[in-house]
Amino acid sequence: MKKTKVTDEKFIIENFVYNVKGNEILNIKHLELPQNSVIAVLGNNGVGKSTFAKCLCGLLPKTKGVLNIHGKKYNDRKRRELCYMVMQDVNHQLFSESVMDDVMLGIKGDEITKKEKAHEILKALDIDEYEDVHPMSLSGGQKQRVAIAGALASHKEILIYDEPTSGLDYTHMIEVANCLQQIAKTGKTQFVITHDPELVAECCDYFIFIDNGKVTDQGEWNKGNIEKIKKYFLKSC
Ligand SMILES: Nc1ncnc2c1ncn2[C@@H]1O[C@H](COP(=O)(O)OP(=O)(O)O)[C@@H](O)[C@H]1O
Ligand SMILES: [Mg+2]
Repeated sequence: MKKTKVTDEKFIIENFVYNVKGNEILNIKHLELPQNSVIAVLGNNGVGKSTFAKCLCGLLPKTKGVLNIHGKKYNDRKRRELCYMVMQDVNHQLFSESVMDDVMLGIKGDEITKKEKAHEILKALDIDEYEDVHPMSLSGGQKQRVAIAGALASHKEILIYDEPTSGLDYTHMIEVANCLQQIAKTGKTQFVITHDPELVAECCDYFIFIDNGKVTDQGEWNKGNIEKIKKYFLKSC
């Protein structure tokens, strides 16, 4: 798939630091990323990827870090208005009596507009046949796609997905990848925490590598980095 061009506009993170009982879980002093791209967040289990995502979304208590975009500084409270996170356990995120109602929650407008837009998104993710079904009656993979539909429906500028394709088969992984690329064209910045090399290859155009709470590597989707990422996945499989 053709990648979107990484932009020159900067997305700057400062002082994303998080400690629990004296243990440093996250320590990112300064990180510059391209806006409007799909950024893979890579790293082994327990290194701080989900903590980074929560910090970015302003969901961690007592973090003082800021995000600089469009010449403005966003503290944790302001980042909550900017970011939408699809959590690793999507069961915490599906609240409504039907799939349709869940997706409509994030859409603005009158009932007809909301329904039409929700239907469009659900169709794109190949789950429109479950529109009237209770989300809790769906399989893990289907629930994941409903939660992603909720993210697409939101008006948020920054979308973060925590392992969005775990439990999905290849066809549905490709559909998710296509959706992320579609969303990228609308000017949003997306972060994808993943252990899925195929998802990275399909839709990410930049990566960061986290180890021990720090960003130890980052870069664009070029030949050298593709080789490096391939080696990482081969080693971690
Ligand atoms: N609220 C918390 N209390 C205690 N330990 C935590 C907390 N949040 C994260 N951790 C620890 O921080 C480390 C990073 O966790 P996490 O961000 O979930 O890693 P990843 O998503 O990369 O697997 C892990 O060792 C985890 O146990
Ligand atoms: Mg995690």
